[in-house]
Amino acid sequence: MLIEPCTYVIFGATGNLSRRKLMPALYHLEAAGRLPEGTRILAVGRRPWSQDDWIAELRGMIEKQARGGLKEDVFARFARLHHYLQGDLREAELYRAMGQLLDGDPGFPNNAAFYMAIRPQEFPLVVDRLGEAGLVHEDHGWRRVVIEKPFGYDLESAFMLQHRLHRHLAEHQIFRIDHYLGKATVQNVLVFRFANLLMEPLWNRNYIDHVQITHSETVGIEGRADYYDNAGALRDMIQSHLLQLFTLVAMEPPASMEAEALRDEKVKVLKSVRPIPKNAVHAHAFRAQYVSGMVGGDKVKGYLEEEGVAPNSTTETYAALKLYVDNWRWRDVPFYIRTGKRMAEGKSAISIRFKVPPQHLFRNTPVERIKPDWLLMGIQPQEVLRLEMQVKEPGLEMVTRTMSLDASFRQEFEPAYDAYEDLLLDVIEGDRTLFLRYDEVEWAWRVVDPVLRVWATERDYIPTYPAGTWGPQETRRLFDREDQFWRHSLEPDED
Ligand code: BG6
Repeated sequence: MLIEPCTYVIFGATGNLSRRKLMPALYHLEAAGRLPEGTRILAVGRRPWSQDDWIAELRGMIEKQARGGLKEDVFARFARLHHYLQGDLREAELYRAMGQLLDGDPGFPNNAAFYMAIRPQEFPLVVDRLGEAGLVHEDHGWRRVVIEKPFGYDLESAFMLQHRLHRHLAEHQIFRIDHYLGKATVQNVLVFRFANLLMEPLWNRNYIDHVQITHSETVGIEGRADYYDNAGALRDMIQSHLLQLFTLVAMEPPASMEAEALRDEKVKVLKSVRPIPKNAVHAHAFRAQYVSGMVGGDKVKGYLEEEGVAPNSTTETYAALKLYVDNWRWRDVPFYIRTGKRMAEGKSAISIRFKVPPQHLFRNTPVERIKPDWLLMGIQPQEVLRLEMQVKEPGLEMVTRTMSLDASFRQEFEPAYDAYEDLLLDVIEGDRTLFLRYDEVEWAWRVVDPVLRVWATERDYIPTYPAGTWGPQETRRLFDREDQFWRHSLEPDED
């Protein structure tokens, strides 16, 4: 397929997301020769910088993040793609200047992707301005808008935002990004499930005891109090990234790998989630906040001492949820989902526990208790796929040991790539498979909305956990059975 070049317009080019993710991803795409010939990058920022100032700044970003260090020849090529455009997002003048470049200057491809690496409150304003300036008309080429999460603050505000975007944009122009869908192991969930026959007969309530989805971080809120203190862990990670992982594990095989077919199945899962009634919120959801503690040998502040956090804030930095999917495949299988900042380790994983065999044939041997088998999918930092099984230990006794069949798919010499590389390329290619359709966002809000509503009324108290730990023990109350408690490690027998 011939991919046409485009102008990548990055709103918020000097901000955090652009520095840490977008610019390095675009650089790596250039290094890999994946940006179509003629691509340009329009970096939009407020600061009164010259082109040279921007390139110097860009060099700093790439030096910090480039795999294997910055390569001068690649950087020289990359820098030539850039044009710094200074302006205020609120002012029509900025959009006039942008229009002159996009529609009047042959040095800039007419196809354009507008990336909103800005504060969510600013999304509607910028889209309005783009619309008013005629910049999203697809008269001479495509025009796409990439929207970062959070898409809304709750069900109602997501609806309002959607309504506002549709004033100027058709649905095919909106790319709602969830960078978790660009992660290698996340995509591998689909391949593992649908390119192998082996698992499918087991992938249901007859064989699976429960599923755990964990995302933990050792970092705190990294100076993002203005956003985080209003969001909290449930909105920040679960409503978006972790519910996406959940849909990939729970969905039915799609009719094809075509974007709409895949998204239809994901929505079906979300629609099948058993609604959490108001009076059962405490049995299904748990929240907590970190207090000071030790992380990596250093003493760190508690959440309430972080700069910008309200002194009496009850925003959660840890959230856990138990969900059931009411369909034939999953009825009564609990899905436990958790996330937290300032936890004992930083990792993301999906752990699926199988049931134990129905008959204990080894009862009169030293094997007193048969351990269950697990399927482990490590997303980060380890990208692994592991099946844990029981085998007999060598020797005269009947003793078992847990072994793992390791299907880790990335060899040492195969480079890792960042999720944003994949997704930024998909935008240019017009492939929406890994982007969210509005109804996915809407149904994900419907899942968490009852919990958010109850938590919003309980503003006097929140349980706490010391930074650097796995969170409060009280999460036990979520589990259907004691032995289903969180598994923290991907190694056998560590918990
Ligand atoms: C972001 C959240 O969407 O995802 C952050 O806003 C979180 O709070 C981040 O730290 C996690 O992403 P990753 O790719 O580092 O696991």
